[in-house]
Amino acid sequence: MHSEKKSRYNKMTKDLFDRIKGDKGPLGKWAEKAEGYYVFPKLEGPISNRMSFNGKKVVTWSINDYLGLANHPEVLKVDGEAALEHGMAYPMGARMMSGHTKYHEQLERECAEFVDKEAAYLVNFGYQGMVSAIDALVAKDDIIVYDMDTHACIIDGVRLHSGKRFVYKHNDMESFEKNLKRATKMAEKTGGGILVVSEGVFGMRGEQGRLKEIVALKEQYNFRLLVDDAHGFGTLGEGGKGTGFEQGVQDGIDVYFATFAKSMAGIGAFFAGDKDVIQYLQYNMRSQMFAKSLPMPMVKGALKRLDMLRTMPELKEKLWANTNALQNGLREAGFDLGTTQTCITPVFLKGDIPEAMAMVNDLRENYGVFCSIVVYPVIPKGLIILRLIPTATHTQEDIDETIAAFSGIRTKLESGVYKRMAAAIMSA
Ligand SMILES: Cc1ncc(COP(=O)(O)O)c(C=O)c1O
Repeated sequence: MHSEKKSRYNKMTKDLFDRIKGDKGPLGKWAEKAEGYYVFPKLEGPISNRMSFNGKKVVTWSINDYLGLANHPEVLKVDGEAALEHGMAYPMGARMMSGHTKYHEQLERECAEFVDKEAAYLVNFGYQGMVSAIDALVAKDDIIVYDMDTHACIIDGVRLHSGKRFVYKHNDMESFEKNLKRATKMAEKTGGGILVVSEGVFGMRGEQGRLKEIVALKEQYNFRLLVDDAHGFGTLGEGGKGTGFEQGVQDGIDVYFATFAKSMAGIGAFFAGDKDVIQYLQYNMRSQMFAKSLPMPMVKGALKRLDMLRTMPELKEKLWANTNALQNGLREAGFDLGTTQTCITPVFLKGDIPEAMAMVNDLRENYGVFCSIVVYPVIPKGLIILRLIPTATHTQEDIDETIAAFSGIRTKLESGVYKRMAAAIMSA
């Protein structure tokens, strides 16, 4: 209850919420126009190539269920049985205290073996795990060198670092080496070491991180390499073992990270590396030390999914057949897919944000195609990316319909139809 009489101190500062109410942030300012449709949309029905949006069936290109495991009957069976047997709570508590089971250990052993590392440690969410792992891996005297386009979880991990950090231009090896030299000079002064962080696959544009070239520089510079392979795990390399395998440099990755939230169609993530480093993370990663461990359906479900990755190579083959058909078809139709080297399929178009909104509205409502839309401030002003994620569940019919739809919306975009529609949307 506010008292009528305010003290002197009460009047000395402005209300914390004044700023929040006045400036909703670069994305939040669109909330009124966008919420429920462009952001926070509800895709309904079983996860698949065609789901319901706004009461209509749409071809779904926005879900990272690369291998089509999300709704696979064997997966559903194991998830359901584990939930019936253990409930969603077991085990209670943090891993260190009371949240540890032989299944967590088994999953860690199997993840480590799969990616050819000595040991692995589970985390509940990739995002929090990455923030916390970076925090644990570096001390004040250490230096971080990281790619400019890395995922927010890496940026936020770097933010926690109280020492020096150097950012290099995205996938630019000249800039990387320049910053590595600066980091080396700085580390000589501080007496610390160097952590380099890259992604295996950059999720927005679909390029692979230049791991081979980064690892080659270990001959000349002393650093350790942490790789976030959220999108590479399950989709690249022999048997889906990830980008390190794809580029033949898995040994050069000192700490390997993958999430279960994409190819594994689950939740949770893991770090893998040498035994002593993983043990260090177990005892120093605050996101796991002070949070409840992964519940059993997630753990048993992940064991099942990993088994399917190992034993069903046809899933990855189908994913790539679909990826090639989609990307070749779009390129033949004259679309710019940038520099993707992976399943991630960004279609680059030009227009402002209201135009992008009108175009996506048309794509969803009239062409029955649902994909993610990326605009400023995530990418430069004037650029629109429509981002397609092919999966093993898509069909040639989905691909053909989508390419035809894209050709349709491009013609309208170029002839100014969406500019006019945008004006109507903005004044509504
Ligand atoms: C590159 C990358 N790293 C980390 C994450 C976070 O993983 P999780 O969804 O398990 O928190 C994501 C997921 O969006 C990602 O794309």
